[in-house]
Amino acid sequence: MDRAGLLLVGEWSEGTMLTSDHITAWINRTAGVLRDNRTCLTALDSAIGDADHGNNMDRGFKAVLEKLPDDRDIGVILKAVAMALISRVGGAAGPLYGTMFLQAAKALDGKTELSAGDVEAMLKASVDGVAIRGGARAGEKTMLDSLIPAHEAFREARAGGADLTACLAAAAAAAEEGMKATIPLIATKGRASYLGERSRGHQDPGATSSYLIIEALHETAVEAGA
Ligand SMILES: Nc1ncnc2c1ncn2[C@@H]1O[C@H](COP(=O)(O)OP(=O)(O)O)[C@@H](O)[C@H]1O
Ligand SMILES: [Mg+2]
Repeated sequence: MDRAGLLLVGEWSEGTMLTSDHITAWINRTAGVLRDNRTCLTALDSAIGDADHGNNMDRGFKAVLEKLPDDRDIGVILKAVAMALISRVGGAAGPLYGTMFLQAAKALDGKTELSAGDVEAMLKASVDGVAIRGGARAGEKTMLDSLIPAHEAFREARAGGADLTACLAAAAAAAEEGMKATIPLIATKGRASYLGERSRGHQDPGATSSYLIIEALHETAVEAGA
């Protein structure tokens, strides 16, 4: 095979990548979306929690934006996100989202651009990290009810040959469905579990913020043409 042929094969198998600039754009977009949805997330948390989730996430990502490093290493960028969330967000969401971004950072250590395979590894590490830190599984009315289906849909789309943006479209759609599917669930973890049966009929705030974060990544990829 000639050189041009080899290059073409390489491009075809790798697909388009997300660069460190795209990851920084994702974090900025997430901060904006969480700011815009602050009241809505807090209203959801007022029904089954203590009415602070919107403020927690907005405050956390404001701190994230102050600390975002100008670095090519995506591991370094995501670790800074994790540290800002851990130090600025109290309650359940701070340590859980901190763990999510810390595990993502570890999975992508040293990388300056991400293939669909790298994003799948990031999602898996994030989901596993949150599950271990919070001791929760699918169906307990938590952020995992968006994150687990998102990872699963991404994995299936990639196995079927979809490109990065299409994989993220599938992940975001699954996260949205998972978020809505928390409405009839009874919470068995976190503050909402104190309500028992009365937690039924309300959408979980953490599943909602997780969907918004995944959707922001999808939109970033669409904009990047990845
Ligand atoms: N053990 C857990 N595992 C995963 N997610 C959890 C757990 N406990 C709580 N959560 C998530 O955290 C969200 C609440 O976050 P937040 O209101 O910021 O914290 P707090 O409950 O401490 O007030 C819930 O909606 C739920 O999705
Ligand atoms: Mg709360």
